[in-house]
Amino acid sequence: MRVLVAGGAGYIGSHMLKALGENGIDVTIVDNLDKGYRDAVVHGDLVEADLGDIEALNAVFDSSSFDGVMHFASFIEVGESVREPARYYKNNVSNTQNLLDVMVDHGVGNFIFSSSAAVYGEPQYTPIDESHPKKPVNPYGKSKHIVEQMLADYERAYGLKSVSLRYFNAAGADEDGQLGERHNPETHLIPLVLQAASGRRDSISVFGKDYDTPDGTCIRDYIHVQDLCDAHLLALEYLDNRDESAQFNLGNGSGFSVQQVIDCARSVTHREIPTRIEARREGDPAILVADSQKARAELGWNPARSELEHIVETAWRWEQAFFIR
Ligand code: UFG
Repeated sequence: MRVLVAGGAGYIGSHMLKALGENGIDVTIVDNLDKGYRDAVVHGDLVEADLGDIEALNAVFDSSSFDGVMHFASFIEVGESVREPARYYKNNVSNTQNLLDVMVDHGVGNFIFSSSAAVYGEPQYTPIDESHPKKPVNPYGKSKHIVEQMLADYERAYGLKSVSLRYFNAAGADEDGQLGERHNPETHLIPLVLQAASGRRDSISVFGKDYDTPDGTCIRDYIHVQDLCDAHLLALEYLDNRDESAQFNLGNGSGFSVQQVIDCARSVTHREIPTRIEARREGDPAILVADSQKARAELGWNPARSELEHIVETAWRWEQAFFIR
C-alpha cells in the first residue's frame, strides 16, 4: 500500500508519517518546506514541491500509484487569514483543487482531508456534532468549508471519495519524543505556555478572563496528535470498505479552560509560569467542545492519549528535548 501525504513535513503530517511507517504503509510526501522541516520527514520519500505546481504533481502521480491521499498542507492561522485572505484562498482552496484534479486525472479516489472545527463558526450549542450549522466566521474556516463543499461535488461528478476530519485543538507531541510542534511564529496555547515554563518567553498571555465560563477563560477540546493520526488510519480503512464520503469531528469531548491548561502545565513542569491577563482575542468563541460519537461509532476511533496531563507531558518532553540543549 502507498499513500501520498501532502504537508508531511509539518506538525500533524510528520506524526502521520511515523504512524504510517509503523503500519507498514509506504509513503510519498509532497511538501514545499515553507512551514515544514526536512528533519521531520521520518518515513517515506520526500518530493520538495508546491501544490501550486501542477507539473510537479503530475510527475509524482505518474511515478507511483497511490491507494489514498492525505492532505495536511494548509495555512492554519485564523488572525492571519483575516489580514491576508488571498494567501488562504490560494493555498487552502486553489492548491487543494490542483491536488484533487490531478487525483481525478490519475484515477486515484481516496482522499483524507484535514478539516477543522472552524467550519462551524460561532457555536449555536455545545458539544458540537457534525450536523451543527456551518457558518465559518473567518477566511481560514471558510477555506476549509469551501473544500468540503468541493469534495461533495467531486464525489458526485467524478466518484472521488473522501473523509473530512474536523480537528478541534490538535496538541501534544510524539510519545517517543522524536517529533513535536514547531510553528513559527507559534500562536497555540500549549506550546506557548511551555515556552513560558522553560523561560523561552517571559509569561503567557491569557486572552480574556471575562467569558461566561466557570473561571472566565475560554474552554477548548484538546486532542493528542497521535490520536488524530489513529483516526486517519481508520479513515483509510473506512474508504476501502465503504462507498460513500463522510465527515467526522475529532475531539475528546471534554473541554479545558485556558486557566486549567496553565495550572496543569505548572503541575507537570514544576515551574511557576507567569501569566498576564489581556483583552479577548477577536473571534474566539467562549466554548468549543466536540461531540465525536460519530467517529467512535463509524470509524471505531478511541482516542486514548488525550488526557490533558498526558498531552502537556508529551509536549513538555519535546520542548525540553528540542529547544533546550
Ligand atoms: N490563548 C491564550 N493565550 C495565548 C494563546 C491562546 O489565552 O497566548 C487562548 C485562546 O484565546 C483560546 C485558547 O487559548 O481561547 C486556545 O487557543 P489556540 O490558539 O491554541 O487554539 P484555537 O482554539 O484558537 O485554534 C484552534 C486551531 C485552529 C482552528 C481553531 C478554530 O488550532 O487551527 O481552533 O477551530 F482554526
